[in-house]
Amino acid sequence: MAAGNSFYIATPIFYVNDVPHIGHAYTEVAADVLARWHRQSGDDTWLLTGTDEHGQKILRTAVANDTTPQAWADKLVNESWLPLLDAINISNDDFIRTTDARHETAVKIFLQKLYDDGFIYSGEYEGYYCVGCEEYKQLDDLVESASGDYAGKLVCKIHSIPIEVLNERNYFFRMSDFQQKLLDLYESRPDFIQPESVRNEIMQFVKSGLKDLSISRSSFDWGIKIPWDDDHVVYVWFEALLNYITAIGYGTDNEQFRRRWPAVQLVGKDIARFHAVIWPAMLMAAELEVPKKVFGHGWLLVGGEKMSKSKLTGIAPKQITDTFGVDAFRYYFMSAISFGSDGSFSWEDLSARYHAELANGFGNLASRVIAMINRYFDGAVPAASGYIAADLAIQATVFDATLQADTAIERFAIHEALASIWAVVEALNGYITVQEPWALSKDDTQRERLGTVLYTTAEGLRALAVLLSPVIPESADKLWAALGATGLGALTEQSIPDAGRWGQLLPGSAVQTIAPLFPRIESPEPGVPAAAAAAAAAAAAAAAAVTA
Ligand code: MSP
Repeated sequence: MAAGNSFYIATPIFYVNDVPHIGHAYTEVAADVLARWHRQSGDDTWLLTGTDEHGQKILRTAVANDTTPQAWADKLVNESWLPLLDAINISNDDFIRTTDARHETAVKIFLQKLYDDGFIYSGEYEGYYCVGCEEYKQLDDLVESASGDYAGKLVCKIHSIPIEVLNERNYFFRMSDFQQKLLDLYESRPDFIQPESVRNEIMQFVKSGLKDLSISRSSFDWGIKIPWDDDHVVYVWFEALLNYITAIGYGTDNEQFRRRWPAVQLVGKDIARFHAVIWPAMLMAAELEVPKKVFGHGWLLVGGEKMSKSKLTGIAPKQITDTFGVDAFRYYFMSAISFGSDGSFSWEDLSARYHAELANGFGNLASRVIAMINRYFDGAVPAASGYIAADLAIQATVFDATLQADTAIERFAIHEALASIWAVVEALNGYITVQEPWALSKDDTQRERLGTVLYTTAEGLRALAVLLSPVIPESADKLWAALGATGLGALTEQSIPDAGRWGQLLPGSAVQTIAPLFPRIESPEPGVPAAAAAAAAAAAAAAAAVTA
């Protein structure tokens, strides 16, 4: 990875109609891992996240809760969305709210430019709209509800709620002008949309024809006013997409804008179309560069369906972090699911992986190595001498893992990067079993060999701390301190591409003691902790109630 490149990564901005669930946290963690990795690779990194606060959905939620949309948004942002970032340790550089004055100013500049350049016209919109999706719908996006409250009514396939029939005078964006330009973009930059499955779906969609897009609404006023017509507010998606440039100074701070843009857009595949069709068309119209990439990750499934609050299958991140901790939360979702594919969440799988991989695999390795250096060398990292084949094999594993993990991150294959790094954990555990340092410690003639074995394991852990710091920052930092590695600088200042270079930990460094990084969690039933079991039962009951 070349040093000093700009790496600007943005998550979607989340609706504040409700509190966050683990699906939202999943996107945040993935973006955070990528940002931390790039930061530690010397790239000029910027991580943006934020909230999407305008539109009918938020307005209705506020009204239903007897308050104003602004007061509702303020409450949700301060009580739920900002605390989420803290709770899952997100290292965002900025947080944009679409109610920020900086956003409103820049949205107006952008719209005025498109209007002046002839890309916006006034027209008549007649058709369907789903407030749940905040999206104009075609007939084949809808079904007739077979039963329940809405029996016989046309409902949105995603939200299963009745759609609105609109007949409004609106402003339109000439999106149809960009059909061929978009297809050319997808052809000439095959990795513009990833993964392949999302790319294929979007290419099909664009090939089937693009219509102009209605970009204003006049039947309510919770939004940003169209600069030349006060009776209209900007369609919420058209405005929300602009956050990626309004947050970095579009129209107001050219230097910052030039430094950051274009971004990598990380989104759930449900909203890849907005990001890979409407968004680049808007940017092309404004003569701006399109994003570097749009990556549509998969869904977290619960009981085989996309987990969502509206279907009552939402799980709050706190339900998991309270029992397993923040790092386990981050590690689990990044390692257990192939990034780009859907993944089923289950408490049993989480608990099993926590114990096998984090408690027994990694945590135990760290505890044993630190304890042995304390016991056999009075807490000073021993020097190595006379490396034999088994030691050199560890060095090669560490070197290869670094290279492979870095290449995997370049491809957004976070799970593959973790698998490569885990090869080091397994190799070190196997090495300790074979080298039997406890046996060497009983034989004075083996003192040097014991030193080499323990240096090899400690230096392997040094590399692991660096490679794992983007994923499990707190535990990696505890390990860093316990290894006495702070003399090399702060962990977050260590270069990831250089992590595989052998021999960085200084002999003589003073190791500390270390509490178990991932303590075992006692559970009433095999594999399922008490709080988790209760939460799982509640979620299952809620899901059953919905499907009943
Ligand atoms: N406000 C829009 C996005 C505007 S971006 C200019 C929006 N918000 S949302 O609150 O509904 O968040 C959707 C995003 O949350 C998804 O794209 C995805 O990143 C994440 N997820 C929501 N549910 C999810 C799962 N069940 N699984 C994985 N990710 C999920 O859409």
